[in-house]
Amino acid sequence: MDHSNKILKPNAANLAHCAELLRDDEVIGMPTETVYGLAGNALNTSSVRKIFAVKGRPLLDPLIVHFSDLAAAEAHIETNDSVRQLAAAFWPGPLTIVVPKQASIPDLVTAGLPSVAIRVPQHPVFRNILKRLNFPLAAPSANPFGYVSPTRASHVAHTLGSRIQAVLDGGPCDFGLESTIIDLRNPQVPVILRHGPVTAAQVNKTLQIDVRSHNGAGDDTAPQSAPGLLTKHYSPTARVTLLAHGETLTADAAPESGIALICNQKPTWHTDQANIFWLSETGELNEIAHNLFELIQRLDQQGYQQLWIEQATEAGLGHAINDRLGRAAAKHEAE
Ligand code: TXA
Ligand code: MG
Repeated sequence: MDHSNKILKPNAANLAHCAELLRDDEVIGMPTETVYGLAGNALNTSSVRKIFAVKGRPLLDPLIVHFSDLAAAEAHIETNDSVRQLAAAFWPGPLTIVVPKQASIPDLVTAGLPSVAIRVPQHPVFRNILKRLNFPLAAPSANPFGYVSPTRASHVAHTLGSRIQAVLDGGPCDFGLESTIIDLRNPQVPVILRHGPVTAAQVNKTLQIDVRSHNGAGDDTAPQSAPGLLTKHYSPTARVTLLAHGETLTADAAPESGIALICNQKPTWHTDQANIFWLSETGELNEIAHNLFELIQRLDQQGYQQLWIEQATEAGLGHAINDRLGRAAAKHEAE
């Protein structure tokens, strides 16, 4: 079924219409600078329930709440100096902060946790909508639970189009990877829960403290576990096999036609072969992140059963890219 008619250009009439849908407790697809979100009124439990239902997401998995600015967020959290420093450095932008919540945030949003994940997004369309509303927006990535995050309006229409009334089209997402999540419940011990576009080194520099990383091999059954942290997540339907960075195949060992090979940068051999793809001409990390989920979803839709994907170099943004690739591949390792 084609649901591309649900994709709305962000003109004045459509923006007003989408704000009205949100005031009516509906949930819609919306662009952010990281990935597309499935947004609804964070303060209204009926909207929040719809988000979980549309995604097929377990109620144990808490949602990120999006605000127009720090002041709007501070009305609903217990704030601290580290929050203000990170907000000044990275908001609006791809950083999510976990802090103690106030009672105004429904328990349903946080899966019963006393903390809430908050973010001030940068995308002009998302910001335009927030300014029209007098409530913040809860928004997980707009994909069916466990699948790859959407980086274009068409991805949302393709997977969730039958269950929602609208997807605002903000073009391809700049970053193409979900926000970095940092746990600041204890400002003395900041912990990165999910790597993303804002790197650990950038956070260290801002807070003047060494942030820890959540050990990726978490307990997948614990109620407080953040499912973006589940070993098996972000998975396409195709089987994903990872290749070490720089270990893409050579001219005498090209992949068979049913297998798609995804390289970081344009290889020097067999570039005329239809099943060989590259994420960036030059291997630039921002470009690799920007194109990764789009290419995976395109190849999935084309029916490839197997994707061989080269890992990124383990530096800066490469850490977040390899984190997502590891989870995409884990689906099949676990089988
Ligand atoms: O870039 C993004 O963060 C996108 C856009 C739409 O903003 N959103 C996104 O949301 O990736 P989602 O729901 O797909 O991932 C949010 C992650 C989940 O793994 C969730 O478990 C974790 O954040 N999370 C949410 N609230 C939390 C909390 N109170 N404590 C710990 N983890 C939390
Ligand atoms: Mg997600």
